[in-house]
Amino acid sequence: MSVPIVRTPAELRATVAEWWSQGARVAVVPTMGALHEGHLSLVRAALEKADRVIVTLFVNPKQFNSAADLAAYPRTEEADAAKLAPLGAHLLYAPDASEMYPKGFATAVSVTGVGEGLCGAFRPGHFDGVATVVAKLFLQTGADFAFFGEKDFQQLHVVRCMARDLDIPIRIVPCQTVREADGLALSSRNVRLSSAERQIAPKLASILFGAAELITGGASVAETLVDARLMIVAAGYTRVEYLELRAGEDLSPMREFNRPARLLVAAWLGETRLIDNVNVLPKQSPHGS
Ligand code: PAF
Repeated sequence: MSVPIVRTPAELRATVAEWWSQGARVAVVPTMGALHEGHLSLVRAALEKADRVIVTLFVNPKQFNSAADLAAYPRTEEADAAKLAPLGAHLLYAPDASEMYPKGFATAVSVTGVGEGLCGAFRPGHFDGVATVVAKLFLQTGADFAFFGEKDFQQLHVVRCMARDLDIPIRIVPCQTVREADGLALSSRNVRLSSAERQIAPKLASILFGAAELITGGASVAETLVDARLMIVAAGYTRVEYLELRAGEDLSPMREFNRPARLLVAAWLGETRLIDNVNVLPKQSPHGS
């Protein structure tokens, strides 16, 4: 059994129109390929919710900050299709860049607020590229639901805001980050780590979880973040881009822990940039108040 592949918006629309005529509810799982268990968990979640699931595979040039990074991004379409078939995904949409951005393409979608700061500050234009391609994918697929991993927590906010502001009738479904047994968040970039770096990599998550625990226990946010930054570098990371506590609801900066929050980090391990985030939630009172 293999998953059918379409490469043009016209073919995609024809397939979806047929599904709609059958009354099917459609979900989309946007990806850039190099599928790992994190992506597959999104596909499984989508299959539970919808009658038909489209996985998109498009390495979006507009969201890369350097030509070298774009060139180095893994392209593994055949292996990706082989992973999707046994799950029962219904369609792989893998357009060429010339289909997605035909000659004369001149539009950009830009999300202020949640798209600024964090990765937005260190990767100028990145979220414009994401918002632009995801808006196109939503409109091209006409899907009822879209599934995104919480690992890219800021991206999730950007996409939600974009769909709401542009009145795109789609429900964004967030799914928990999938981790290796040692805690490392799954990412297509993990394959770039050397074996020595792979040993160091999971320390980012353990430091993050440790800091979250301290903050929920009442420790000073500022001091905890300073200490955690030092620990990340001491663990072997080359550089911390950001480590910030933000409100879970709207990503606004938080100096004090007074509402549900996320602790978000981006750090370089050699030549590889890794991001991660964890929930920071008020401890349940033992008396349930
Ligand atoms: O998360 C990703 O893989 C990409 O940013 C996305 C959402 C597929 C847009 O290109």
